[in-house]
Amino acid sequence: MVKAVKPSVILLSMVSLALFLYLPSAQAKDVVESSYHGQLGKSPALGGWGNGLGMLEKWCALPNFSFEKQGRIRGWKEHCGQCHTSTYRDPATGKTDCLLCHKTKDGEGEPTIAQCVKCHVKDRSKRGDVFDEEHDIHIAVGMRCHDCHERLADAHSDHQFAKGYAIDTTEDTMKGTLSCMKCHEEKPHSRLDEGEILDSKHVTRIACVTCHSGPRPGEAIRSRNWNKFTKDGKSVTEMRNPGWIPKHKWYVGKKLDHLPILGATDLVSKIYPFNVVRVTWFIEKPDTSLDDVVIVPEVRAADTNKDGETTLEEMRKYEKGKYKEAILVTKDFNFSITHSIVPIEQAFSCKDCHGKTAYVLNWKELGYDGDPYY
Ligand code: HEC
Ligand code: HEC
Ligand code: HEC
Ligand code: HEC
Ligand code: HEC
Ligand code: HEC
Ligand code: HEC
Repeated sequence: MVKAVKPSVILLSMVSLALFLYLPSAQAKDVVESSYHGQLGKSPALGGWGNGLGMLEKWCALPNFSFEKQGRIRGWKEHCGQCHTSTYRDPATGKTDCLLCHKTKDGEGEPTIAQCVKCHVKDRSKRGDVFDEEHDIHIAVGMRCHDCHERLADAHSDHQFAKGYAIDTTEDTMKGTLSCMKCHEEKPHSRLDEGEILDSKHVTRIACVTCHSGPRPGEAIRSRNWNKFTKDGKSVTEMRNPGWIPKHKWYVGKKLDHLPILGATDLVSKIYPFNVVRVTWFIEKPDTSLDDVVIVPEVRAADTNKDGETTLEEMRKYEKGKYKEAILVTKDFNFSITHSIVPIEQAFSCKDCHGKTAYVLNWKELGYDGDPYY
């Protein structure tokens, strides 16, 4: 059941409406570049492109691309700019192409799911999300992305979209304002036979998505090796088959180890689902940071016997020892899961977590002595 909008949400919408009205007009303002969708890096005053906040200072092992070492803004534009929007500026107007999300160049027409998914297709490989009617109960009832991620205005832009708490890959230019509880009760199960036990023993300890996202519908990355390559030069990547069960971790809203997450700190600890991706790559020296990478073209060139694998020895011998201290690191990256909420009959239920046939949780890893209800 969906509840009436919370008073706090109304207040928030009023604040944003006020900010929105304060702006001269949507067109006059550089709407997207200054939003978190447009963030890029150093401000123009410092020789950068962005609003001073940015993706360019971040690094993720999945693309394993180094802004510093791979052509800076040109390299970024070529490889990443198609989705990381600021590099998509129209030279004439200096603005983002409104057609990325709207029907016309003037920003008319409500964005469709397909338009958001053009770029957010990455959520599939990172998390196993499938954004269609068959796999997402909300899309099945006609909701679109921005019905949840509503457009808000803040001091930076009128094109911010409500974000969540669990993951925040973008800059902290606005607070997390979106959760399931924006529309649902905190204890939503009272009408069900076993509702009392779900509401009393579970929802304070287990995130809604843990039960309601069920087995994951989409293929997602399990591991990636930046020292092994296929014949066409791609990193050797293993995928999880549809139906995979996420890994569960206590999550407090803080940055976990190697989690590409920044931001929120005010959540109580609950059990959340993650896709844990194991990635292996070369860094230049043992005592530098994880993003001090040996860039992929050089790793491939170092494979002298051309067997598709660059060994540590080969890497260290490359170009007379240019990387003689290189090491290979392997880390787990945790991608939190939020979407593709299944119809309620398919939510994880008692026997999926408790008892002989249970398969969802690993009680020991979560710190329990064992199943508390068996
Ligand atoms: C097909 C679209 C697309 C392309 C191409 C793309 N990205 Fe992304 N990237 C995204 C989206 C969407 C996100 C937002 C978070 C998410 O969906 O997981 C993101 C997030 C990120 C993050 C934040 C951490 C993370 O992994 O979520 C980094 C860093 C990043 N991208 C770097 C890059 C680099 C470097 C390139 C080019 C080599 C690149 N991206 C190319 C769509 C893309
Ligand atoms: C990243 C996606 C995205 C991009 C790019 C984008 N918009 Fe939007 N825009 C949205 C969303 C989502 C809404 C909210 C739609 C709604 O609630 O009906 C919106 C709403 C608007 C509205 C208000 C429409 C209304 O009826 O209230 C205007 C005006 C607008 N955008 C103009 C622009 C212009 C101009 C550009 C190009 C400079 C642009 N947008 C680029 C996603 C985008
Ligand atoms: C039913 C509501 C709902 C719909 C519809 C929805 N989202 Fe979300 N989304 C959320 C919530 C809630 C979170 C934040 C969870 C948290 O961090 O606590 C989220 C988080 C995200 C994130 C951060 C990474 C992640 O997956 O957790 C991205 C990116 C995102 N949504 C994009 C989209 C796109 C693109 C669409 C449409 C294809 C979409 N969302 C549709 C509710 C929704
Ligand atoms: C042109 C590609 C593109 C389009 C179109 C696009 N996004 Fe994004 N989105 C990204 C990238 C890339 C990021 C990562 C942040 C960044 O680059 O600054 C992102 C980040 C987000 C986040 C924040 C995730 C977090 O860190 O919590 C949300 C929510 C989101 N997008 C929703 C939407 C919605 C809703 C639409 C459709 C109206 C949409 N996006 C359309 C590329 C896109
Ligand atoms: C913007 C409002 C909104 C947000 C945010 C939202 N939902 Fe919903 N949800 C709805 C609506 C509307 C329906 C369809 C009406 C209904 O079935 O109650 C629905 C339906 C559902 C259903 C099916 C209920 C049934 O009786 O079949 C579940 C389960 C659910 N949502 C879980 C979630 C979870 C988990 C989240 C957070 C990731 C979430 N919702 C976020 C509005 C929302
Ligand atoms: C421990 C697992 C679990 C957790 C945590 C959980 N749910 Fe449920 N939920 C269920 C099950 C099981 C059902 C009922 C399925 C059935 O009736 O077949 C259900 C049913 C629902 C329904 C339909 C209720 C109705 O009256 O038909 C909604 C809406 C819902 N949950 C939303 C949420 C939200 C929002 C949260 C987070 C506050 C949440 N759930 C947390 C397991 C869970
Ligand atoms: C996603 C997995 C999951 C599902 C589904 C689930 N549980 Fe649980 N259950 C847990 C976890 C985790 C705890 C421990 C919570 C805590 O730390 O307080 C728990 C605790 C309990 C307890 C309390 C045991 C004790 O003495 O501390 C009972 C009773 C229980 N569950 C019964 C049920 C019933 C009945 C259902 C179906 C309606 C159900 N659970 C569905 C994970 C689940």
